[in-house]
Amino acid sequence: MYNSQMKLNIIILAAGRGKRMKSTLPKVLHPLAGQPLLERIIHTAQSLNPAHIYVVYSQPEVQKQLAHLNVQWIEQTEQLGTGHAVGQVLPHLNSDSTALILPGDTPLITAATLQKLLAATPKNGIGIITADLYDPTGFGRIVRDDKGDICGIVEHVDATPEQLEISEINSAIFAAPVSQLKQWVPQIKNNNAQKEYYLPSIVPMALAEHCSVSSIFASYEEVGGINDRSQLAELERFYQHDTAQKLMLSGVTIQDPSRFDLRGELQAEHDVVIDINVIIEGKVSIGSGTRIGAHSIIRNSKIGKNVDIRPHSIIDGADIGNDCIVGPFARIRPETQLLTGVHIGNFVETKKVVIGKGSKANHLSYLGDAEIGSGVNIGAGTITCNYDGVHKHKTVIGDGAFIGSNTALVAPVTIGKNTTIGAGSTITKPVPDSALALTRSEQKLIMNWSQKK
Ligand code: UD1
Ligand code: CA
Repeated sequence: MYNSQMKLNIIILAAGRGKRMKSTLPKVLHPLAGQPLLERIIHTAQSLNPAHIYVVYSQPEVQKQLAHLNVQWIEQTEQLGTGHAVGQVLPHLNSDSTALILPGDTPLITAATLQKLLAATPKNGIGIITADLYDPTGFGRIVRDDKGDICGIVEHVDATPEQLEISEINSAIFAAPVSQLKQWVPQIKNNNAQKEYYLPSIVPMALAEHCSVSSIFASYEEVGGINDRSQLAELERFYQHDTAQKLMLSGVTIQDPSRFDLRGELQAEHDVVIDINVIIEGKVSIGSGTRIGAHSIIRNSKIGKNVDIRPHSIIDGADIGNDCIVGPFARIRPETQLLTGVHIGNFVETKKVVIGKGSKANHLSYLGDAEIGSGVNIGAGTITCNYDGVHKHKTVIGDGAFIGSNTALVAPVTIGKNTTIGAGSTITKPVPDSALALTRSEQKLIMNWSQKK
């Protein structure tokens, strides 16, 4: 057993060019469920509370984009293989620690499996995670002797036809004492098909010194390294399916788990119904009995109970109260706050607005930089003209106001309580409580007008 008294250092290998992605974006920055592969694995590493996490990188964008994470960045200027990559970190590590080595392209490895590996790693030897694959193409194969003990790892390109038949693969996740790695890694040679310094070459070195090599099994989904976009899509679907499964078991109806995408964190109460092709991003909470209509996108928002989000709505950075109806085709933008029972209908856009209880804006409106009271009716086509080309200005509408269709409210402007604004008005001056304001010119009539033909 590995000595749990020893400090743990985690090494994450992320310097590879990721050629098989055929992308200008470094492979480890490609997102899975909205989060870069490397960030995901760093979070998992952090959950093990190691003394340090070292990330081996080569592309500056990788470090730049993830600079906010608390890790030590070690540059590998030439990508000479996984063994060489580990060699860049070893001089920084105390010999009385254990190293856990993770490839940066296995985003779904869980902390529980890594704990299991650490527990199974021999005191002076190596622990490896392996998996049994139906299609092991491309992976390093685990070679075992007659007794079933691991005797080596052979890369796909170096394997004999018999070895290619082996279905047990190397996950590239290793644990070993740093003191041993400091002896073995510098001895790795690159006499193989790819002329690379392979980390798995330490296995025969350990065995030659009678140090044992143990392994634990994990699923393909946990250890399947992402090398190309097809593998990325495969793991994304697995992740989404798994997430949908957990939500369903907690009391959420998901109409079709294969058409559900969560790219962040969702807290959903019981009896939430999520229709097909909904995308949830960032931090979202949804209260019980709420329905999210098909093809909607919800981002960083709080949605109350018994809300009806109708199809094709986009809700971003909003707080939607209980019993609201939103959509279809509504666009709710950041800093929107809808109090209880508000109705927002089709082709209505809101931004930085508070809308009071029971107010309605059912058709074709823009409501921005506004404070709207309760029981207000916003007629179709009403616009808050909040921007004068330089500054944004505020519109305030009192409780019970009735804003006629196609009204332009030129901010800054205040509309009193229980006012009525005639349809088609352009309001530029304050309207006191209980008044009728209208700016229409009188209708002209010319009798017996002959139409031009
Ligand atoms: C590696 C293993 C293979 C295993 C597979 C599991 C080796 C030699 N092969 O192959 O046995 O089945 O993972 O997914 O270890 N990296 C560096 N610097 C380098 C080279 C690689 O940091 O010089 C990083 C890569 O960014 C990547 C990880 O190491 O995150 C693994 O490298 P990759 O090229 O993907 O190795 P595989 O061919 O997948
Ligand atoms: Ca890989």
